[in-house]
Amino acid sequence: MKSYINFSKSPVQQEGFKPIVKLLGAEDNIEVSRYEVGKNSMFFVNPTLQVGTYEFYYIVSGKVLYNDKVYTANDFYEVYNIDEPFKIKALEDTVILFISSRAGEFSDALEFNENLVEQLEAIQAKDHYTFEHCRRVKRHVHDIGEYLNLSDGDIKNMVLAAYFHDVGKILIPDHILNKAGKLTKEEYDLMKTHVIHSETIIQENLGKEVSDILILHHERLDGSGYPKGVKDIPLQGRILAVVDSFDAMTTDRVYKKGMKKEEAIEELLSLNHQYDQEIVKILEKLVIKKA
Ligand SMILES: [Fe+2]
Repeated sequence: MKSYINFSKSPVQQEGFKPIVKLLGAEDNIEVSRYEVGKNSMFFVNPTLQVGTYEFYYIVSGKVLYNDKVYTANDFYEVYNIDEPFKIKALEDTVILFISSRAGEFSDALEFNENLVEQLEAIQAKDHYTFEHCRRVKRHVHDIGEYLNLSDGDIKNMVLAAYFHDVGKILIPDHILNKAGKLTKEEYDLMKTHVIHSETIIQENLGKEVSDILILHHERLDGSGYPKGVKDIPLQGRILAVVDSFDAMTTDRVYKKGMKKEEAIEELLSLNHQYDQEIVKILEKLVIKKA
């Protein structure tokens, strides 16, 4: 049986306005990190990747403002199943100890930055469906990645691609995004450009590894997809395409009622020239048979 005792020096403090996050320790179902936030900077607590992750934040030193209340050393906050990011302001240089009931939140936290969260919030204001849709797609993609034993790095890139695959919709006019009826050809062509916008935004913020996956989410195996009509789609892109379509099919929209999960899986299985059937079967196991 594994056993150990570890002593460590506190990580070297650095100056800066972005939170500095250091992983202090981790085991299967727990992770301990240290957040260091510069005076007057804003930071975010983001929804966790998986439902049911408990997070505990203990203020070691400094002072923060949340909801017009000031919290100081020895105060703490707990986070469980929040749906949207919330903002906290550091009134002084602040150090926070962070404990999570799931390993992996640390690396997720590192990937977020203020700019991206603001973009997501802007999308949410514009199109609530997209925001919720991206959160669900992110979760399924993560679970399929784990089921397939993909590497942590591959899962992380795929999850980020899933979370931000529709971020480009921020640049699509409201009347097209929320149109109740069928889109005209011109409107549909414009709608399709969201993929390119997403790619540009994410490549700048999170790099090409993530944007290269995201650009594939509307591509289909028979070449009938967009924006390029490629047939040879890498695994992460095939996963994202299946999950994105599944969620779109099963969600109620202004102009249509969502299908039952079973019906959507059946339809995806009938479209075997378009969707990777192995991925559809894994999704079926995870969401219907709850493997
Ligand atoms: Fe999309």
